[in-house]
Amino acid sequence: MPDPIAGSQERTRVLADGSLIPTLGLGVWQVPDGPECEGAVRTALELGYRHIDTAQAYGNEASVGRALRESGVPREEVFITTKLNPRNRDPAAAAEQSLRALGVDQVDLYIVHWPGGGPTWAWPGMEEAHQRGYARSIGVSNFSVSELDQVIAIATVAPVLNQVQFSPFEYRRALLAACRERQVALEAYSPLGTGSHLSDPTVAGIAEALGRTPAQVLLRWCIQRETIVIPKSTHRERLAENAELFDFALSADELAALDALDRTGGTERARERSWW
Ligand code: A2P
Repeated sequence: MPDPIAGSQERTRVLADGSLIPTLGLGVWQVPDGPECEGAVRTALELGYRHIDTAQAYGNEASVGRALRESGVPREEVFITTKLNPRNRDPAAAAEQSLRALGVDQVDLYIVHWPGGGPTWAWPGMEEAHQRGYARSIGVSNFSVSELDQVIAIATVAPVLNQVQFSPFEYRRALLAACRERQVALEAYSPLGTGSHLSDPTVAGIAEALGRTPAQVLLRWCIQRETIVIPKSTHRERLAENAELFDFALSADELAALDALDRTGGTERARERSWW
């Protein structure tokens, strides 16, 4: 029997600054601005998603905002993340522009998209965005342990989250452990390997044994590894499938079999290669 109470405890997480974040979100990376993005966000909200992850660099903040308004779901019920494009050299001014595009007074989380130009220069501006109330929480993305430590060393307001490429195939144990020690939540992007991990035979075998789908197995692994996960889909049935994660659990043996798929050697890096 699924344990509904355990399931509900897994659905949200308390960040180090006391804010709550839903552990499942919709990521809209590579979703074109306009009807496609609006449709995905509207459908996700209809299906019960309460966390949307966008970015200045995705160019689809306006679509996210429109879908949110049209959904009728109260603003305060939805956790919205956007990311500083580090090519914008003024993080607070860039946040203000994001708020205008999204049509909201504040985002729930504002993170440095990648350590472009070095890991620390943006942080005072991120703190300013926080101080002005543009962002309730602030954090980083694609930061290694040493880059994270450089930010923490100069921070007045510490980053609460690091969003990185993470899945059983990119099982960055050293990064996960270091984030935990520093009270930084790890958020997993590309949890399905942008689709490429779905056909793996180990994943498929576990899915078949459990009567689940490969996507659910990969996402459930992220939940049981105590991360926050933001799969992307533009299809209603997949969005629904990806949200059914809290009524089953992977066994210790299944977790171990998935852990063994790691190709990163348990690195403390945030991804294999920088793209910037
Ligand atoms: P689509 O958007 O056409 O549904 P990731 O979250 O790792 O970036 O993976 C996203 C990719 O995986 C997208 O190509 C998405 O396609 C596909 N995808 C998302 N959910 C599922 C699912 N449940 N089953 C199959 N493919 C999926």
